[in-house]
Amino acid sequence: AQKVILDGDPGLDDAVAWLLALASPEVEVLGITVTHGNVGLPLTVHNAGVTLALAGAAGANVPYFAGAHGPLVRDLMTAAAVHGASGLPAQGLPQPAQPPEDEHAVDFIIRTVRHHPNKVTLLASGPLTNLALAFRLAPELPELVREVVWMGGSTTGGNATPAAEFNVLADPHAAHIVFESGVPLRMVGLNVTMQCIADPDRITALRGLGNRVGTVSAELLTFYASVYRARYGLSGGALHDPLAAAAVIRPDLLDWHDMHVDIEVHEGVNFGRTVCDLYGSTGRPTNARVAVGVRDEAFFALLLERLGQLP
Ligand code: BDR
Ligand code: CA
Repeated sequence: AQKVILDGDPGLDDAVAWLLALASPEVEVLGITVTHGNVGLPLTVHNAGVTLALAGAAGANVPYFAGAHGPLVRDLMTAAAVHGASGLPAQGLPQPAQPPEDEHAVDFIIRTVRHHPNKVTLLASGPLTNLALAFRLAPELPELVREVVWMGGSTTGGNATPAAEFNVLADPHAAHIVFESGVPLRMVGLNVTMQCIADPDRITALRGLGNRVGTVSAELLTFYASVYRARYGLSGGALHDPLAAAAVIRPDLLDWHDMHVDIEVHEGVNFGRTVCDLYGSTGRPTNARVAVGVRDEAFFALLLERLGQLP
C-alpha cells in the first residue's frame, strides 16, 4: 500500500475523499493534517475527528494534527456558504473518538517524510499552506516526498473568481511555493472535477448502501446539491476532493498531461489563477502532471464500492 498523509479542510467533499482513502487497501493513511479553508481551523480539526470516527476501525488508529490557522500572506477566506457553517452539514454525526495530537501538522509532515524518504504521498484537498510551511522549514523535503496529489486549480476558469479555484485563492502564495519547489506534483483541477457530479441517482445509490457512511454521505451531498443547483444550475455537487483521492488509488481513471503551471500571486483579476502552459508556449520545464480527462462512471463506481466497505 502507498503511504499517504491526507491534508485538507473538511468541508464535505474532503470528508468523502478521506472516507474513500481510508476504505481503500491501496492506501495506508499515516495521518491527517488539517488546514484552514472551507471553514475555520477549529471546525476543520473537529470535522477531521468526526470523519475518522465515521470510518470506524479504518480510522481508529489514524492520528490527526491541527495545522495552519490561515494563509501565508493574504487574509483568511472561507467557503461556509458552500459547505454549511459547520463544514459538515449532516445530522447524527459521531463525536471524534480521539482528540487531535499535540504535535503541529507541519512538524508531523516533516518528521514523517524524513522517516520514509521518497515513500510518502501528500494528498492535499485544501489550500496548500501546511505543505508550503513544511517546504520552507525543511528545504530538502520536496526531494523526499514521493508526490503531491492536489485537488486545486484549473486548466480553464475558476469557481471562487472567474480566474481562481478556491484552494488556490485561499492561499495563492502557498500554492506558488509548492509549484516552484520541484516536488513531483499531480494537479486535479476543476476542468475534470466539474465533470463528476453527485446527482440525485448517485445520492440514492449512496443511501442504498445501507451503512452509516452511505447515509451521511447522501445527506452531505444533498445539502451540496442544493448549493450547486442554485449557483450553477447543476443536478448535484462536484466530487472535487474524492476525485483527487481516486487519482492516488487509481491513476488510470484520469488522463494526464505534463506541463508548466504558474500561480498568479499578484492581486488583480487573475489573483490565484493556475496559468497552465497547455501548448508549451513558455518553454519552461514541466512542473506538474495535470489531469485533463476523467472516466466519471468508473470513478463513481469505485467511490460507491469503497464507501460500502465502511460501517
Ligand atoms: C475545492 O474547494 C473546496 O470548497 C472544496 O472542498 C474543494 O477542495 C473546490 O474548488
Ligand atoms: Ca477541500
